[in-house]
Amino acid sequence: METILVTGGAGFIGSHCVDRLLARGDKVICVDNFNTFYDPEIKRKNIQEHLKNQNYTLVEADIADAQVMEKVIAQKPDKILHLAGRAGIQYSLKDPLEYVRSNITGTATILEAARTHGVKDVVFASSSSVYGGNTKVSFSEEDHVDNPYSPYAATKRTCEILGANYNHVAGMHIVALRFFTVYGPRNRPDLAIFKFSEGIEQGKEITIYGTSDEIKRDWTFVGDTVNGILAALDNCGKMGFEIINLGNANPISVTYLVRLLEKELGKKAKIKRAPLPVGDVPITSADVSKAKRLLDWEPKTPIEQGIKEFVKWYKSQQSL
Ligand SMILES: NC(=O)c1ccc[n+]([C@@H]2O[C@H](COP(=O)([O-])OP(=O)(O)OC[C@H]3O[C@@H](n4cnc5c(N)ncnc54)[C@H](O)[C@@H]3O)[C@@H](O)[C@H]2O)c1
Repeated sequence: METILVTGGAGFIGSHCVDRLLARGDKVICVDNFNTFYDPEIKRKNIQEHLKNQNYTLVEADIADAQVMEKVIAQKPDKILHLAGRAGIQYSLKDPLEYVRSNITGTATILEAARTHGVKDVVFASSSSVYGGNTKVSFSEEDHVDNPYSPYAATKRTCEILGANYNHVAGMHIVALRFFTVYGPRNRPDLAIFKFSEGIEQGKEITIYGTSDEIKRDWTFVGDTVNGILAALDNCGKMGFEIINLGNANPISVTYLVRLLEKELGKKAKIKRAPLPVGDVPITSADVSKAKRLLDWEPKTPIEQGIKEFVKWYKSQQSL
């Protein structure tokens, strides 16, 4: 049994990780500021069951608050799973300073408190967005990533570089996981898959970027992403600094995704086409051979099955 500090543990991916950590008997300290990026009531609901578990402690705080993080990390958790941060590419163009504060200052604050208190193992969330406009498929961790398309991507790449530095100067074991468009139950409401479902259900027009099938995403089912996160936590003590892709390794077009949603929701979408906005990338596509080699991890959920599970959850929320 270990004690894991999970930042962002009330969010979409974080709350699934906490489910799994508690289920296997670990202790969890969750830090989350319940910000209003989307309805904080959704996050309260995500942690409802966690609060009933005696192995769970909630600290409502901002990760960029050095005094609080210092106190929390002084409890010497065995490992840190750092998922808190501002997500969302388009929003980062509207408020880049908040992304710098939450993502870069927040990550630096955690790494520094961890170094001070000798907590060596940190796994954190990076993003496929760091690959910018790369079009070579699939994206490998070795690829050039110095051309981020959005402030969000720039913050995530900066955090990776900070991680490399803390490994070098403090000998910490740090794993940056590049997630590829995660979806599933508890999906963030600002993500395309959720917005498409709302539009289809309510008979409203939905916007698909591009003229045909050229915009593709490597949608990854949250259960698979969480398997990879737990494997990284369990193995990071053996690592120095590593960047690892966690993607489905099967990019599909947005048009195909909408067809799957139409099928599962039993309604036709009203589709409007628009050019890809500045900040967004045309394609994401993961090479996951490094995850297989270092974590023995592979994605297991085909998109058709994952969408069934997402829609089942989505419908259950609408009927509440
Ligand atoms: N969902 C995806 O497809 C995806 C893809 C790539 C990377 N990521 C990254 O994975 C992580 C988790 O993403 P998610 O989809 O679960 O998002 P989420 O917004 O649901 O979860 C993030 C959580 O962090 C909290 N948080 C944000 N800023 C904070 C701060 N300054 N202090 C304390 N708490 C703060 C939020 O309240 C939220 O509960 C994020 O770092 C995100 O950038 C997500």
